[in-house]
Amino acid sequence: MAADERIEPRDWMPDAYRSTLVRQIAQHAHSEIIGMQPEANWITRAPSLRRKAILMAKVQDEAGHGLYLYSAAETLGASRDDLLDKLHSGRQKYSSIFNYPTLTWADVGAIGWLVDGAAITNQVPLCRCSYGPYARAMVRVCKEESFHQRQGYELLLALSRGTEAQHAMAQDAVDRWWWPSLMMFGPPDAESSHSEQSMTWKIKRHSNDELRQRFVDICVPQAESLGLALPDPDLKWNEERGQHDFGAIDWSEFWSVLKGNGPCNEQRMTQRRRAHEEGAWVREAAAAHAARHSERERATGDSERAIENSERAAEDSEREEATA
Ligand SMILES: [Fe+2]
Ligand SMILES: [Fe+2]
Repeated sequence: MAADERIEPRDWMPDAYRSTLVRQIAQHAHSEIIGMQPEANWITRAPSLRRKAILMAKVQDEAGHGLYLYSAAETLGASRDDLLDKLHSGRQKYSSIFNYPTLTWADVGAIGWLVDGAAITNQVPLCRCSYGPYARAMVRVCKEESFHQRQGYELLLALSRGTEAQHAMAQDAVDRWWWPSLMMFGPPDAESSHSEQSMTWKIKRHSNDELRQRFVDICVPQAESLGLALPDPDLKWNEERGQHDFGAIDWSEFWSVLKGNGPCNEQRMTQRRRAHEEGAWVREAAAAHAARHSERERATGDSERAIENSERAAEDSEREEATA
């Protein structure tokens, strides 16, 4: 770790390093798949074919991110069934941001710009995480996240430059998503229980507050070009620090949503459990197909080897005849 080398699945690792990674990667994976819900809500109501196609691609990407991450957790010996079971029974969490509702079409833009934007700020440093499979998954995820962020920004720009009502819709969405997006970086450093150990293990490279500050500094000029205001009267450039100052975050809201009292916690979990149950036949069919496929491969593998062997034998005897 001191040499900045990657830790790979077969390497020895402390139990606590393994369990920290499983917990973090699982929570990340759960967030990706739960995160599909608020936006999927708008697929049938997207205002044009182009917007619908983009949104479908984006939501499918999130499913893909979940798959990369569950696979990364499996390299640590975790079982996917067990992780999903923990999600469904509330023993593992997902990002609280997805417990907020998507009330208008502009929310799709605000999620892309702010929520995917915050996710990128969090995940770019994870590309250098000490655990190899997680770091490599993040490289791919981040490329897709930047497409998500751009589509959100472009959607909001179209609304902001549209009619008065469209502009107001965009502003309302930004007003609702701004503060929860800042909460995505987690509690302040002083109260963050896992941060220090994760920094030593190079799972985390920057503190919650550092990343939050970076995100605010990125968003301010973007909001200006969008022609939208960020809902914080205390937000202003601090010449001395070379960063923006911003207002106090309402952490009581964060803890309350985390504990299950957000506007959509119940809805998200009910929908997730239902999707899991309704998808049981797909998982069974896929497992049966995989089993049959590997059986067939073994059988054709055997017969191919038999042909190869007899060919080799024929060549050998020809060679013997020639030398004789
Ligand atoms: Fe994602
Ligand atoms: Fe995304």
